[in-house]
This record gives sequence, C-alpha cells and structure tokens, in this order.
Amino acid sequence: MTIKKLMAGLLTLIVISGCNESSTKTTELIVVADKESKQLEAQVAHHNAQDYHSFSNPDAVKVTHLNLDLSVDFTQQTLSGHVSLDFQRMTPDADTLILDTRDLVISKVVADGNDLAFNLANADNFFGAALSIKLPSHSSQVTVYYNTSPKASGVQWLTPAQTAGKKYPFLFTQAQAIHARSFIPLQDSPQVRVTYEATIRTPKALLAVMSAANDPDTPRDGVYEFSMPQAIPSYLIALAVGDLHFKAMGERTGVYSEIGILDAAAAEFEDTESMLIATEKNFGAYSWDRYDLLILPPSFPFGGMENPRLSFITPTVIAGDKSLVSLIAHELAHSWSGNTVTNATWRDLWLNEGFTTYLTYRIMEMVYGEERFDMEAVLGRQDLQADLDTLKPNDQILAINLKGRDPDEVFSNIPYEKGALFLRELEHKVGRANFDQFLLEYFKAFAFQSITTDDFISYLEQTLLQDYSDKLSKQRIEEWIFEPGLPKGAPVPKSDAFTSVDKARNDWLSGTIAASNIDSDNWVVHQWLYFLNNLPAELSSAQLTELDKAFGLTNSTNNEIAHSWLLICVNNWYQPAFPRLNEYLVSIGRNKLVKPLYKALSATPEGKVMAQKAFAKAKDGYHPLTVKVNEKFVK
Ligand code: BES
Ligand code: ZN
Repeated sequence: MTIKKLMAGLLTLIVISGCNESSTKTTELIVVADKESKQLEAQVAHHNAQDYHSFSNPDAVKVTHLNLDLSVDFTQQTLSGHVSLDFQRMTPDADTLILDTRDLVISKVVADGNDLAFNLANADNFFGAALSIKLPSHSSQVTVYYNTSPKASGVQWLTPAQTAGKKYPFLFTQAQAIHARSFIPLQDSPQVRVTYEATIRTPKALLAVMSAANDPDTPRDGVYEFSMPQAIPSYLIALAVGDLHFKAMGERTGVYSEIGILDAAAAEFEDTESMLIATEKNFGAYSWDRYDLLILPPSFPFGGMENPRLSFITPTVIAGDKSLVSLIAHELAHSWSGNTVTNATWRDLWLNEGFTTYLTYRIMEMVYGEERFDMEAVLGRQDLQADLDTLKPNDQILAINLKGRDPDEVFSNIPYEKGALFLRELEHKVGRANFDQFLLEYFKAFAFQSITTDDFISYLEQTLLQDYSDKLSKQRIEEWIFEPGLPKGAPVPKSDAFTSVDKARNDWLSGTIAASNIDSDNWVVHQWLYFLNNLPAELSSAQLTELDKAFGLTNSTNNEIAHSWLLICVNNWYQPAFPRLNEYLVSIGRNKLVKPLYKALSATPEGKVMAQKAFAKAKDGYHPLTVKVNEKFVK
C-alpha cells in the first residue's frame, strides 16, 4: 500500500480486506471511488482474524504504550491535551502509523521535537476517520495534540442537575466496542494491547478515576496520575470524573460513587469480595490487584462495563435486596474472560461474553447456592429464546460476521447465553472438575493475549477434543459456533422454585384463584420476573388492574420487575401505568431496560406519540449510545 494513495483527499479510503491491512492472510489496500466500493467489498471474502472495525495497521506498526495528558473542560464539554504513543515497527520498511479517530480535532503531531505530516481521512459513519502519520525513520514515539468533540460517541457529559448530588458536573467514558477512538487517537482494535499512564486535570473539587491503579486517598487537587502496567485492549481504557467518594467493602474491594448512594451501594455489593475469592479458587489468581466498583448516574447505557480494576456499574441494580448482583459477578468474571483473555475482533465477542456469562452462573452458584443459580439459568435461557425467535439466522451465530456492520446495532443475548450454554454442555460432557481444570489452563495459556474463535477451536483440538474424544466431537463444536439456533440436545436449565410460580399463574389465568389469593409472600425477585415474563401476550384491562392492585407492580422499586411489567402494560395499552412508564424512560438510560419499551411503543401510532414525547424529554440526559439505538423508534 502507498501512503500517497491515502493522502489523495478526493478518494474514499476503502480497505477491501478489512480495516486492519497487512494481516497474514491478505495485505492489499485498495483505494476506490465511493460508488464502486460496495460491489468490490461484496466480492472479497471474510477473513476471520481481520478486525473490520479498525483502520489501524498494527501488523506494520504496533502501538505498545500510551501516555495521556488531558484537561477536562466541563464548560466546553471537551477533553483536550495530548497523547504520546510508543510503537514498534513490525516490518523493516514500515513508515506509516495509522490510528483510529472519531470527531477528534487534531492540532499537531510531533516526534522528537519536530512537527510531522499527517492526514485525517474523510469520516466513515460507523468507523470514524483514519489518521495517517508519516514516521521519521528512527523515531519510536509520536505525540498527538488533540481535543474531543462535545458529541464524542464514547463520552457522556452530565450537568449538575443530571447527577444525584445536583451540585457538580459528571463525566464518564464508555469505549467498548469502538468508541475509544472518540476520546483518544489510537489503534482501536482489541488485537492491540497497550500499557498506559495518564495525567488528568479536572476542576479541583472533583475526583478522576480510571481503569488503572486508583488511590482512594489521593489529595483532591485537580491533578490525578494513573498507571495501568498490564497491557490491555483499547476498549478497556476508561475515565470518570465527578464528586466521587470511596468506601471499602473488603480487603481488595471497594466502591466509588456520589456520596448520596455510597452506603446503599456498599451494602448491596458487600459480597463482591466473596465473589472474588470464590472465582480465584476455581479459575486462578486474580491478576489485577484491586477490584473496585464505580457506580454511575442512571444514564449509564449498560448494566456494567468491565473496565479493569474498576468496573463501571449502573445504579439501577441497587435494589436493596441483592437481587440483581449477578451483574457484579459478571463484570468481575470479565477479569478472567475478556480482560486477561480477550476477543481479537468483535466477531469473537462470544469468547468474552459467553465465557463470562458461564462464569457468572458459576459464581452465583458458589456464593448464593444452587437454587439461585437454577433460577437465573432459566431466566437467561428464556432471554435467549426471545432472541432466537426474532433474530435472523445469521445473527444467531456465535462467530458472527460483522463486516461492514456497526457492533452497537448487533447487540443481543446470543454471544452471552448461547455462548454460556455451549460451555455448559462441555462441562456436562467432561465433568465439572475436568472442565474447571480446562478453564484454569485456558486462562493461563492465553493470559494477556487477544485470541480469535479459530485460536480457541485449535486449543480445544489440542486439549478437550483429544482427552475426551469419546465424549466430544469437532462437528458438534462447530455446530455450536457456526450454525444458527441451538444444536439438538442442548442443556435445558430447570428450576424447582419456578414450579409453584407456573401453577399460580395458571390457576389465576384459568380463573381458579384471584390474584390476591396467589401465595406470593415468599417469592423472590426472580420468581416475580418468571411470573411476569411468562404471562400470555394478551391480557385484559381487568386482568392487569387486578394484578396491579394485588401486587403494586406499577410502583415496584425493582427496576427489572418494573421493566417486565411496563412492557406488558405497553403491549396491552394499560394506561394507569403510563405516568410511571414515562418517568422510567426519562430517568433511566440503560439500554437493556429502555430499548424494549421504546420498541414496543413504536408498534402503534398512539404508542409512538408517547415514545416521542418521552424521548424528547429524556434526550438531553441520555448517553449518545442510548440516543443512537432508540432514535429509530421515535422517527
Ligand atoms: N462488556 C459488556 C458491555 C458491552 C458489550 C459493551 C459489548 C459494548 C459492547 C458488559 O460486561 C456486559 O455484558 N454488560 C451487561 C451485563 C449483563 C449481561 C449482566 C449489561 O450491560 O447488560
Ligand atoms: Zn459482559
């Protein structure tokens, strides 16, 4: 490839064989006019190790370390400063470093005190703009001076009014999958691992925390230094700034949040230390020193994000009864599956999320017992079924082809629950102790590496497939990984605790008993979810009124129960719940909770009007991702 072509501003840069050129399999970089690009792209085969979501060129020049120096400006809503990138040349003639960016303003690029020529390509809607830097022959570091845009896709800026304390602004980043490039120019591919250091400059009253070593006792002076000595992929770089306070939960675990929810959070998540110890016991030592939680404002678009040493957590799981803490087990488990052994491309996301979901179930079983595990496994299986019933066959495949697609738009339960069920089958076939030993060795074998689905299959061929050739077959494994749906005979989770719930639901639906006579005094949250999620699609207004009167569902303070109930209310146009629905949509930005509601509302003209009103009111407080994935329902 030639840099001259890249510089040709009139042409659109299309990397035919994927954004990461010069892979082992294919190296050609072709520049074509926009019109021809689609046809040509369609002719080129998918390459499994190719990261189709990054323009960067780590096979030629690989970045190994970042040093960030950023000032946080809440008035302009920008991060500005510079990042120094240390790199290695992977080929002797490599002379160009290509970085990913999105909506960044690049002011200059410097190496060894000299300004360098650089080119920022035209932006692609999904992937941003490639920044090409011509490297002087002996340099091994460049520094990029830049600032972010207020609309950076990976940053949310909150006004004081949008925080719990109402006094100070708040900022947090969310880099997975391809948003790190909206706040740092870097090689935004999970194949590339970097260590990093950072200096973050903030208003004096605020505290900055990062996915790095954090010192809870650091003086609040507006200058915060961080270091992440283990090499991590870019999607795990994270920053938050706010009026944050810290409370220890255990020896290695603690929680950061605004002061108003600190005690509630520490109480809700007090079992984090036990979860950590239980996971280490089975799956190997924790490699990241401390494990802390950061509780974000309710606009956080995910349940949680496994930023190393400091998981970012939605406040919507603080239910008061630990009913939703499997989220913590999940983010903690990523310390092994995801952060230590990492998916090499977004096609391989199931290696992160499927393994983590499997580990989550195991942790919940170890800490809370088999009954809790059984219930969660059944609910997870039902979530999976909902997706299997609606997703196109190609989107039901674990090793999904994401070429040309925005990973944000492809989010589903498939990599999570289908991935976990696959591992559950392996466990059942070889026995739990043997499977645990396998996992322990797998985490060791690939520690601090990024691997593809194909790497995993080769590893299976050298391990379980050899040792248990009488019980496992490659064909079955390929069916799990490459075929839609579920293989026949897949494990079927069961829970005795749900038997009485099924009976109660049936008795009520058939008119045998009134809702007020359902013996639900001892039901836990999971039983309520199972009760609600398995009601028939159509219910009368009288039935909904009866349920609501008996159980106060509209006013449930459990956000998952409220979600399930509100979805039923939308689908059956139960208007008494609508004020609550409106408040729910405006106060929560977690996509898993709001997206299905917007989608259901958009199915009818009256519903759409409601959705439009709620969205208009909520939009300013939503994260850019929540805006992006729900906008289509209100158009
Ligand atoms: N890493 C994910 C979140 C994610 C995945 C962000 C893909 C962007 C792209 C995180 O660990 C996660 O899975 N969160 C779930 C937790 C749930 C399954 C317990 C969530 O946010 O709902
Ligand atoms: Zn996850």
